Amino acid sequence: MHEKIVELFLQNPDKYVSGEKLSELLNCSRTAVWKHIRRLRGEGYEFESSPRLGYRLIRKPERIDTSKLLDGLRTNVMGRSVHLFERIDSTQTAAHELVRQGAAEGTLVIAEEQFAGRGRMGRKWHSPPGKGIWMSLVLKPRIPLHFSPQLTLLLAVALCRSIGMAANVQAGIKWPNDLLVGGKKVSGILLESNAEDERLKYAIAGIGVSANLAPDDYPEELRDKATSLFIESGKIVDREKLICCFLEQFEHLYDLYHDQGFAPIRLMWEALNVSLHRPVRVHSSKGTVEGFAESIDDLGALIIRLADGQKVKMYSGDVEIYPANI
Ligand code: BTN
Repeated sequence: MHEKIVELFLQNPDKYVSGEKLSELLNCSRTAVWKHIRRLRGEGYEFESSPRLGYRLIRKPERIDTSKLLDGLRTNVMGRSVHLFERIDSTQTAAHELVRQGAAEGTLVIAEEQFAGRGRMGRKWHSPPGKGIWMSLVLKPRIPLHFSPQLTLLLAVALCRSIGMAANVQAGIKWPNDLLVGGKKVSGILLESNAEDERLKYAIAGIGVSANLAPDDYPEELRDKATSLFIESGKIVDREKLICCFLEQFEHLYDLYHDQGFAPIRLMWEALNVSLHRPVRVHSSKGTVEGFAESIDDLGALIIRLADGQKVKMYSGDVEIYPANI
């Protein structure tokens, strides 16, 4: 039914179709027609409605075009195989399944919408249709398991650079890998690893970028914490261009990391970070620590100096940054 309605509007470009005609053609009630229109609006279709004339489709949602993506992509490994889903629970789950079926490093899973998107620390990730970049990248790095936090920092550097290049928005990295613009979150990274003993078998890098979301696309509770590249720049982001740019930046840094280790990545991360050298509160599964964010160490852990001068290392958690004058 849903597809039929879309087809009907696409066959009548720029024309009003009355509610009555729609209910006749689709053999359903006017209320059912109205419910379908409401659902389509939620998916990014825009209609003009007139009580006398009916509905007119004025814009259909943007769709990620994989051939445009692959045409513009200059990488050897990253994104050479792409799986695009219209609607899925989580691209992370799909990527784990693809690895079980033998997917190669660099395999990319993208979804227009996720209905069970996962965030860090067991949170949900808001992933409405057609406007974001919700993707998971298969990685098979040649590193021991305890080096994996370095990978998340590497991912944040690549993402921060590509957002600057493709969307012209300068984001800052909040440890370990949240990207912020004006103190609000624009992107998040979730690294899920699969290991045997100390050996990292593979990792799935889940990347969520709020690209073209409008303020109305966020639920109330996220509005003062989250923003999008569109809200910040006033321009619609070319999602294929941003994905390409990220894959190219990531591949370049990943090769550098395998050649030269974490040291160059650490310098780049420090230059882009907004959470060091400030009073912070870090919430983790083990509780909350308050102190001064002094530095990151060779593994990517955050070093906090407590009020009594003692230093603690945090390997994961959520950083709350205080205003510098507190
Ligand atoms: C965070 O909490 O900041 C991490 C968010 C990661 C979200 C992305 S969206 C694509 C991929 N699939 C998921 O279910 N989560 C990640």
